[in-house]
Amino acid sequence: MSNEPKEPLLLDHNYDGIQELDNNLPRWWVWLFYITIIFAAVYLVYYHVAKVGDLQAAEYDKEMKAGNAIKTAAMGNFESSIPSLQPSKDAVVIENGRQTYAKFCAPCHRADGGGLVGPNLTDDYWIHGSNYCDTVKVIWDGVPAKGMVTWKTVLKPDEIQSVASYIYTLRGTKLATPGKLPENLAPAKAAGPSSFE
Ligand code: HEC
Repeated sequence: MSNEPKEPLLLDHNYDGIQELDNNLPRWWVWLFYITIIFAAVYLVYYHVAKVGDLQAAEYDKEMKAGNAIKTAAMGNFESSIPSLQPSKDAVVIENGRQTYAKFCAPCHRADGGGLVGPNLTDDYWIHGSNYCDTVKVIWDGVPAKGMVTWKTVLKPDEIQSVASYIYTLRGTKLATPGKLPENLAPAKAAGPSSFE
C-alpha cells in the first residue's frame, strides 16, 4: 500500500477505511468567514467598548419616549380643540361610535342609552352640560368620583369623537322601556333641591 502512488491531497488519517481528503475551502467561503470576524470586532467596539450605538433596551426606551411625546402632543391638541368640536353627521363615524358605545358604554348607560348605573343619555337633562363639547369633555376626562370612566387613556381621540357623535343622535329618542329618571333639575325643583343628592 505504501508504494502505491498516493493522491496528494489524501491525508494519512484513516478511520475504518475512510480516508480524509485535504480539500481547499472555496475562496468565497473563506472570505465570508473573515468578514464575520471583522464584523464581530467592529460590533464589539461599536456597541460594547466605545458604546456609540444603543443596545436594545436603550433603543426601546428611546422609541417609547418618542412615541409617548407624540401621544401627549396629540392628546394636548385634541384637548384644546374640544371647545370648538361639532358632532359628526358622517354615517361611518356614527356607526363606529355605535360600535364603541355597544362595547364600552352600554353596560352602564344601557344599550338604548336609557341609563343604568350611568345616567340617561336620551333625555333633556345633563349633569355636566348639554353642549356637544360638554359631552366630549366628560367622556374624555370621565367623572372618576361618580363612577364614569376616564376614557382618554382607553380610547383614541377620534373614537371619543365618534362615540360622542353617536350619543348625540340618541338625544330625544323614544325608548321602548322607560329610561332612568332625569338626574337633576326638573324633579329636584319640585321636591326640593337636596332630595336627589
Ligand atoms: C362603569 C360605568 C360607566 C361606563 C362604562 C360608562 N359610563 Fe358614562 N357615566 C357613568 C356615570 C356613573 C355617570 C354619571 C357621572 C356623574 O354623576 O357625574 C356617567 C356620565 C356620563 C355622561 C354625562 C351625562 C350627563 O348627564 O352629563 C356621558 C356623556 C357619558 N357618561 C358617556 C359615556 C360614554 C360615551 C361611555 C363609553 C365610552 C361611558 N359613558 C361609559 C358611568 C359609566
